[in-house]
Amino acid sequence: MTYIPSEDRYSKMIYNRCGKSGLLLPALSLGLWHNFGDIDNFENARNILQVAFDNGITHFDLANNYGPPVGSAESNFGKIFKQDFLPYRDELVISTKAGWGMWAGPYGDWGSKKYLVASLDQSLKRMGLAYVDIFYHHRPDPETPLEETMATLDLMVRQGKALYIGISSYEPKEAAQAFKILKELGTPCLIHQPKYSMFDRWVEDGLLDVLEENGVGCIPFSPLAQGLLTNKYLHGIPENSRAASHRGNGAIDEDEISEEKIEKALQLNTIAEERGQNLAQMALSWILKDPRITSVILGASKSSQVLDSIKCLENCAFSAQELQKINQILS
Ligand SMILES: NC(=O)c1ccc[n+]([C@@H]2O[C@H](COP(=O)([O-])OP(=O)(O)OC[C@H]3O[C@@H](n4cnc5c(N)ncnc54)[C@H](OP(=O)(O)O)[C@@H]3O)[C@@H](O)[C@H]2O)c1
Repeated sequence: MTYIPSEDRYSKMIYNRCGKSGLLLPALSLGLWHNFGDIDNFENARNILQVAFDNGITHFDLANNYGPPVGSAESNFGKIFKQDFLPYRDELVISTKAGWGMWAGPYGDWGSKKYLVASLDQSLKRMGLAYVDIFYHHRPDPETPLEETMATLDLMVRQGKALYIGISSYEPKEAAQAFKILKELGTPCLIHQPKYSMFDRWVEDGLLDVLEENGVGCIPFSPLAQGLLTNKYLHGIPENSRAASHRGNGAIDEDEISEEKIEKALQLNTIAEERGQNLAQMALSWILKDPRITSVILGASKSSQVLDSIKCLENCAFSAQELQKINQILS
């Protein structure tokens, strides 16, 4: 069936400026790390993307190694893009990344020019795109000179294969160095993608300040700690959960669902209920309360989760008392 997007999709979303750039991103983006691989149900994946776009989520976040198997999330996205989203290419921000292990041998990992150039070409082919909107270096590489990696990102923009450049999981000091090099090259860094959730607050320790000083946007990943910050695991590990499915490739596993985390999640859930939210919604609005955050990347195994999570936008303000209670639980 031909997909026709909802006409009022843009009235359902908030769009934030990404750092000091011309680009607006939806407050909620959709990530394709899990649930879009060849091991997953194609029609379900298609439905998630359609429902996201119907609700104003204009930004889809991919990487070369998403699947499993690696590459398959991009291939499946490419098929869905061709079927459903081709007429809407200019309404979409599509990102991909390279930096983790992708193919065998010395040229399929980390941050060399050799790896990154080949990887973006492969990603464009798999997705059937002429360019991506954002290309990220996926993680810092301690062995490759930062100048080489950053010059490669600049090259991609000059070649028209990427419109903007981002980095992911760089620490504050190395991020600042990367921003300086990119600025000198004439391709300012658009955005940084760090892990950030109520359970992992490292970005508050310097990174967010560095991003603000440099006019760089911030788009946290795993905002729900892969499901721990939802009501999913409050009373055991359900069969249909990410933790029970042993997907590998960094997916949460049963042994990470500790009693301590569940106890904290139960306490947070009580505060969420008092705010008229569920835990997932509160965990997302808690991140979005900071004006330095441009967008938050959702993961979803079904479209109903997207619809549920989007409701976080109805209440992103926190009282000082609520924040204090949350901090006490998280300390
Ligand atoms: N740059 C990087 O290094 C990096 C690393 C990781 C991720 N990312 C990006 O960030 C995206 C999001 O990461 P993530 O998938 O870990 O995010 P997440 O939001 O922390 O976890 C998503 C999982 O939480 C559960 N969930 C989501 N919404 C829910 C709701 N409303 N109610 C109950 N459960 C809900 C689902 O688990 P079930 O599957 O169990 O239903 C879903 O698969 C990725 O897709 C990727 O684009 C980037």
